[in-house]
Amino acid sequence: MDARRSVVRGDLLVEGGRIARIGRGLRAPRGAEIIDCAGKAVIPGLVQAHVHLCQVLFRNHADGLELLDWLSQRIWPFEAAHDARSLGFSARLGIAELLLSGTTSVLDMATVRHTEAVLEAARVSGIRYTGGKCLMDKAGQGPLGEPTAAALRETEALGRKWHGAEAGRIRYALCPRFVLSCSEELLGEVRRLSAEHGWLIHTHAGENRAEVALVRKQTGRDNVSYFDSLGLCGPRTVLAHCVYLSPRELRTLARTGTSAVHCPGANLKLASGIANVPALIKAGVNVALGADGAPCNNTLDAFHELRLAATLHLPRSGPRAMPAAEVLAMATIRGATALGLASEIGSLEEGKAADLTIVDLTAPHCQPAGPDPHATLVYCARASDVTDVLVAGRPLVRARKLLTLDAGALAAQAAVEARRVLKRVTT
Ligand code: GUN
Ligand code: FE
Repeated sequence: MDARRSVVRGDLLVEGGRIARIGRGLRAPRGAEIIDCAGKAVIPGLVQAHVHLCQVLFRNHADGLELLDWLSQRIWPFEAAHDARSLGFSARLGIAELLLSGTTSVLDMATVRHTEAVLEAARVSGIRYTGGKCLMDKAGQGPLGEPTAAALRETEALGRKWHGAEAGRIRYALCPRFVLSCSEELLGEVRRLSAEHGWLIHTHAGENRAEVALVRKQTGRDNVSYFDSLGLCGPRTVLAHCVYLSPRELRTLARTGTSAVHCPGANLKLASGIANVPALIKAGVNVALGADGAPCNNTLDAFHELRLAATLHLPRSGPRAMPAAEVLAMATIRGATALGLASEIGSLEEGKAADLTIVDLTAPHCQPAGPDPHATLVYCARASDVTDVLVAGRPLVRARKLLTLDAGALAAQAAVEARRVLKRVTT
């Protein structure tokens, strides 16, 4: 995933949490731990630039609805029912799934309350996390809406405390939910805080027809044009979905360096539509990939999104529209670019952080190997082929076992935890 999409058959040396050398026949320094990767691909740790760890506990509890009903009838009341314990559990369950399936970095949107439970889960798990408290200050959003000043005070305090924690592994993001949740005053302050602290702005835009129509009715503009009019577009801004964009909005994204996140699994499951990713890429927009929430996908498996992204656009745009290496780039270097971390992660290059995902390509469903390993990874490989995962050189998954969390216990307890939260739901 360097600029030439090079494939190296050889060795990779990790020292001090960074990639020290890549080449053929490297000699291991004395005392080095050796991971035998014969028959495997060592790839940059996968980056998902749009997830909701707070929603993982609601997987399989919000099916069969379109976006606005899904939010108002299920997700908002569910999120409001979280306490710190259930929220932490939800985040740990999601991180376990992500790490075991090769995702090492996420851009997350937490819920309105108890954000520190998510940040704490990110801290103990070892995952590379960017995210923050969800901001919602408009009336009519049930129990999640907050006074503007209180929302801003809390998000700034959280950012000051957590941004850069764990040697920079945890970074803070300002997360206004979407246009319909936020006042203009709130969005203006988000712009100011992002400029002052360098924090990302992570939000949703152009996901669904009814949402776009309501945004137009309330603001007189389309999502991206509205954000741009408030000074919110720019290289620190990440917009999830971008299914319904006017040609003008597309040009605005390209001109301002705003990243878009393609969420094909969620866009299908919520019956939202299909983003015109080939057009976005052609216009020069940085497009990343994300699973979105567990209750709208219903998996956080990056390989599922890779395969969808690689195939979904071909009937409309032609069989060569989404080359496998460029799809993998969306889940690695382009994701890293969206997160503002392209100099640190997203490719295997000397000097970068050793965020690595190791994928066994010897199973029957990956054989026989063809000339392009990107194609095997994108079209054939599955989450269960991931054997090892490192973040900043620290092994988090070894031989398919998660080292930092008890994945078995989380899965076994999930139904009980979900029942405990859902009992508190008031609609
Ligand atoms: N738009 C506003 N909030 C959400 C959310 O939680 N999930 C999705 N998919 N879209 C949203
Ligand atoms: Fe989302």
